[in-house]
Amino acid sequence: MKSKLNYALLKTISYRIFASTLTFILVYLNTGHLEIGLTLSLLELLFKPFLYFFHELVWLNIENGIKQKSTKRLPQNLTAELFPVSKEEKELAYKQKGMSIWFTGLSGSGKSTLAKLLEKKLFEMGHQTVLLDGDNTRLHLNQDLGFSLEDRFENIRRISEVNKLMNDAGIITISCFISPMDEIREKAKSIIGHENFLLVYTNSSLEACISRDPKGLYKKAIENKIPDFTGISSPFEVPKDAMVSISTETNIEDSFLVLWEAIYPELTLKK
Ligand code: ADX
Repeated sequence: MKSKLNYALLKTISYRIFASTLTFILVYLNTGHLEIGLTLSLLELLFKPFLYFFHELVWLNIENGIKQKSTKRLPQNLTAELFPVSKEEKELAYKQKGMSIWFTGLSGSGKSTLAKLLEKKLFEMGHQTVLLDGDNTRLHLNQDLGFSLEDRFENIRRISEVNKLMNDAGIITISCFISPMDEIREKAKSIIGHENFLLVYTNSSLEACISRDPKGLYKKAIENKIPDFTGISSPFEVPKDAMVSISTETNIEDSFLVLWEAIYPELTLKK
């Protein structure tokens, strides 16, 4: 709403400049009097912006009302189906716990590198896994979302629901999402269920990520060519409650070992 108000204010100013300049020209052409033209356009400049801004606000409220009515679809007339095979039965069949390993960290901090190694190893050991990555899901499932905090929330909400569906099917999910705020990660945890949520923080300093810059995005963000870039023009909160924090500034084998030792025992079924 704040950005819409700023937009309305800017629109008011720019419209008034054009409109009052036109008033001045028309009055001058019609009367031949410079001072009448100036007085009228100055009076307009003083009073009409309030009128225009108020008018914009009324329309913004109308637009909000319409949007809320038409897009807010609360679940109605729905009854959850019960499925014949339970999560526990699937977990027994797959010899694993259907859990979510959730990587959070700056872009370029090593989330995907570690996640790929993890999935490969789990797969080779016979586990059922799914790997979800921000870049990939944003090209398809979440292609309608950008990088405002609001869109990031929605991105993580949808991905968390996907995680939950997979976990309920006994599958181990590995998710690599910047998920930059505590509140966003809490949301993911609450959707997935805290007992199924293992948070991994790929702990690389911003300086290290900038110097790696594998996709050249930091360079562009620093040159103001990418808006809302995490770490540059959009915030990243270091997680306080990660199950494991992995420094990815040393060698990758060591980082993977730390990850594996923390994660693997959680995925095995306790006898
Ligand atoms: S999140 O904040 O909503 O969790 P997500 O992990 O899905 O982000 O997407 C991050 C990826 O999108 C980055 O790895 C990067 O490749 C790309 N990207 C493009 N624009 C941005 C941006 N403004 N901020 C962060 N990442 C961006």
